[in-house]
Order: sequence, then structure tokens, then C-alpha cells
Amino acid sequence: MDLFDKLKVDKSPIGQHAKIGHGYFAFPKLEGELAPRMKFRGKMVLNWSLNNYIGLGNHPEVRQADVDATEQFGLAYPMGSRMMSGNSNILEKFEAQLSEFVQKEDTVVVNYGYQGIMSAIQALLGRKDAVVYDSECHACIVDGLWLSVAKRYVFPHNNMENFEKQLERAKKHTEKTGGGILVITEGVYGMMGDLGKLREIISFKEKYGFRLLVDDAHGFGTMGETGVGTGEHLGVQDQIDVYFSTFAKSMASIGAFLSSSEEVIQYLRYTMRSQIFAKTLPMPITVGNMKRLEMLRTQPQHREQLWKVVNALQKGLRDRGFNIGNTESPVTPVFLSGGTNEAGNLIIDLRENFNIFCSVVVYPVVPKDVILLRLIPTAAHSLEDVNETIAAFEQVKDKLISGQYANTQLVSQA
Ligand SMILES: Cc1ncc(COP(=O)(O)O)c(C=O)c1O
Repeated sequence: MDLFDKLKVDKSPIGQHAKIGHGYFAFPKLEGELAPRMKFRGKMVLNWSLNNYIGLGNHPEVRQADVDATEQFGLAYPMGSRMMSGNSNILEKFEAQLSEFVQKEDTVVVNYGYQGIMSAIQALLGRKDAVVYDSECHACIVDGLWLSVAKRYVFPHNNMENFEKQLERAKKHTEKTGGGILVITEGVYGMMGDLGKLREIISFKEKYGFRLLVDDAHGFGTMGETGVGTGEHLGVQDQIDVYFSTFAKSMASIGAFLSSSEEVIQYLRYTMRSQIFAKTLPMPITVGNMKRLEMLRTQPQHREQLWKVVNALQKGLRDRGFNIGNTESPVTPVFLSGGTNEAGNLIIDLRENFNIFCSVVVYPVVPKDVILLRLIPTAAHSLEDVNETIAAFEQVKDKLISGQYANTQLVSQA
């Protein structure tokens, strides 16, 4: 059989619908200035799908810093991986600033969060070790675990009773092998907006003697009094042994970082394969990221505006009877009942007739009869945007309940 023959039948859960959905439900193009209102298929839509949480993405100060740095450095410098020839004083200075902000001894910046955390997990876990992780952890954590040779124990999302059971199993294993235990969870879970149970997890630390790695991609810049993240919000930042976040969300850029003790970070610098064998970030990205961090630290008004929008949106939806789950973060899921076909029709109606663009999640990511609409409020949104959206959501919910999306006609228009 030819290697590619199987691709004719096995096109992936979403890819199998590409004929009707490509460019619409998957790989849509939002064009124009990065903002709440952007062009989708030639028409302006109010969009709730960018992780530009504190609105830095198109901020004039940020745009200027990016332009100035590109003019000064170009995209080539520095060349090579950091270990070989791509290190720089500016990047090290940025790492020191990050360490100070997230209250850790040392920091290493990585090219992409996905690659960086995969390699960090692989590097931290040896043959004798065990890892206990939440079942809802992001794909990059799951993939990192595939790269690791450690024994894996997974607990159902935020289920602390089962967590302790897995810890017991992990402890038994490491007592035999002489290895250690790493626990991995997230600060903010990016699909549903609920928080990892950091306090509860940490309460088991003394008994089981594990180290804790937290992926706070959605918490950094949004959570905590000063925006440090979920650890600050829950008062446990000092108990997180390895803190990870990306620059792809609140910082509206690219790259990511890991912060920990000097010893751990120095070890990671020399062992993360995806960083040792890949080119370092272009200098304008680093300089632009420094500007973003400075604004995140010194301009709390962006985070305050974000929470104004978040609170209005979440309260408005709850008051009108919408189920938005257990979110405690800006991520706002809206759960409706219906099948995949109805979800498709509802999304088309929202986009074509109400000019509202948001992400939709259906089976197999959520159960068969659940439609999950995911809203990401940002500091760039206004309270008018919130009101417009809630009014539209009320109408599409009524249509869904009265069965108007049950026909298949609309789907074929996508
Ligand atoms: C929870 C979480 N971890 C890690 C990543 C990967 O980060 P990056 O986009 O920098 O590769 C993402 C997505 O951006 C994420 O949502």
C-alpha cells in the first residue's frame, strides 16, 4: 500500500469536514488591523477569538517599539542557536526582568511555548521518575510526555481525590526506582476558563515530596493583583517550582519562558533539545517583548479594562440564564445544547446575520449534544461590544431552542 493511501480515508476529526468547512469553521481568515472588529470574508465582524487579552497587540507604543527594533536589528540577528552563537546581552537582560516579575531566581526564554515546554518536560524527567498530570493539560504537555521515558499517571481534570490516588501510585513507583515526581497542571484552563487547583495540589507537596510545573499561558498578564498570573492570584507563586508562560497571549507576540531556581534553569538551558538545535528568536521580537513586559508591569489600566469587559460579559450572560461553566478567568465558555449540524447553522447565523465571530467547539472535544461557544474578551473590547453580543446570543439561543437550526440548508452556504 502506498503510504499516502490512508489519507484518503483518515483525514482527522476536523479535517474530514474540510470540504464544507475549510476557510469558514477551520482556518478562517480575520483580516485588517488587529482589533475587536476585523474583516471576515470581506465583511466587518465583532470578533471574540483573539488571545490579545490586555490589548497590547495593536497598541501604538508596541507597534512603534516593533518597528524601531526591526529597523535597528533586522530579522537575521542573532544567528544560530543560543548555545552556539545566538545568545545576546539583551535577551539575558529580558530574562532577568522576567525573573524579577514572576518572582523566581532565573528564567530561560524559549522560541515557542509548545516546543519549549515539550523539551523542558523531556529534560526534567528521567527513566526512574514519575509524572502526575491533569487530563485536560494542553497538547504541548501531552506531547512532551510522549517524549519522556518517565512513568505517567493522569488524573481526571481537577479531581483531587483521584489526584492523590495517582500520587500514591507514583510514590510507590519512585520508591522502587529511586526517582522523583513531577506534577503538571495549568493555571487557567484555556478552553473552559477554570483554574487549576493549585492550592489543593500544593497541600499534598509535603506528604508526597513532588515538584510542581504550572503552564500559565492564559494566566500570565491577566490574573493576580499585578498580573503575574494564577500563582499570584491564589497566593502560591512561591510554591510553583517551574513556572511557564507564553508570549502568544497577553503579550500578543511570540516566544515563551520558563522560570525556576538558578539550578533548574541552568540545567534546562543545556538540555532542552528544541532550543539547543534551533535558531534563537530574532532580536526585534525580544526587544518588542521587553516593551510589552514593561507595559504589562507599569500600565495596570490595560488589565483593569480587561476585567471591566470580562465582568460585564460574564455577568450579562449569567443574568440572562446562559451557562458559562466554572470560569474564574477572562476565558468565557458558553454552553448550549445541540448537535454538530445545529452548531454549524448557529455559527453561520451569528457570523452572517449578527456579524459576530467566535470560536465553536463540538464533538469529539465536548460531548455529542454540547455546543461550546468560546469568547475571549480583551481590553480592546468596549461595553457596547458586550451588549451587542449578549443581545445576539439571546436571539440565537432562542432559535436553537425552537429548532430553527435543525435544518441543513445553512451549513451548505458556508
Ligand atoms: C496552555 C497553553 N500552553 C502552551 C501553549 C503554546 O504556546 P506557544 O503558542 O507559544 O507555542 C498554548 C498556546 O499558545 C497554550 O494555550
